[in-house]
Amino acid sequence: MPAQLLDGNALSKKIRSEIAARTAIVTAKGVKPGLAVIVVGENPASQVYVRNKVKACEDVGFYSILERYPEAFTQAELLNRIAVLNADPDIHGILVQLPLPIHIASEKVLEAIAPEKDVDGFHVANAGALMVGQPEFKPCTPYGCMKILENIDYPIRGARAVIVGASNIVGKPMAMLLLQAGATVTICNSKTRDLAHHTKDADILVVATGKPKMITGDMVKNGAVVIDVGINRTPDGKLCGDVDFDAAQYVAGWITPVPGGVGPMTITMLLMNTLEAAEKYSK
Ligand code: GUN
Repeated sequence: MPAQLLDGNALSKKIRSEIAARTAIVTAKGVKPGLAVIVVGENPASQVYVRNKVKACEDVGFYSILERYPEAFTQAELLNRIAVLNADPDIHGILVQLPLPIHIASEKVLEAIAPEKDVDGFHVANAGALMVGQPEFKPCTPYGCMKILENIDYPIRGARAVIVGASNIVGKPMAMLLLQAGATVTICNSKTRDLAHHTKDADILVVATGKPKMITGDMVKNGAVVIDVGINRTPDGKLCGDVDFDAAQYVAGWITPVPGGVGPMTITMLLMNTLEAAEKYSK
């Protein structure tokens, strides 16, 4: 029997309607949640992502601004914009789309965002708070993956969780969230020996490598929850994940499709973080 599909679009719709309702309440108190999205350069995927983020803001009733700057925009100019947005009372969340052009030091930029407006959860203060179990903003993709698990009431306590990919954006914060929920967590990276040995042991398998279909069906444990964070384009122009969905769906118990799995949840949790930033501001 094929795995049950973990439908990120359906779950997003449900959560976004709750966000819209809470947005109406906080707006009535005089604080309309505001998100500023900055993108530098012409990376085509980034352009699509930021447009989707801004559109999602409009749909739930947020105020949002999209600032697009050319590839040649300097680090100093970007830091100036962030300083202005940090001081803007109408803006509760600031998101600088990654990757940035190579002449800009991403860590300097992320550290310049006021931690209380860092709705991506990438500032070291927020990463540290997550590490010690007191998260303020959880990074949106791992937060979305946790919501997917919550939605099926999966017993995370005591489960073996394996994460493939150790990025600051997904792999590391995902590990922290699963650990805090009581899972036994393994983080694999590009140097891991015998990757299949680890993945086959996973009750919960989260894959975020950017390598199309690298997790084959025989690397998945029977009945596992498979969460595929990857979005890749095949040579014939179709989207695919980091997991070979066609094969893995006959082994897994639950699996996220690509597209329509984790992707919409990332944006939904960005909206949630921005709403919560505005709610805190309104108190
Ligand atoms: N690039 C890829 N994923 C993300 C994300 O979640 N936030 C930002 N700011 N940039 C990204």
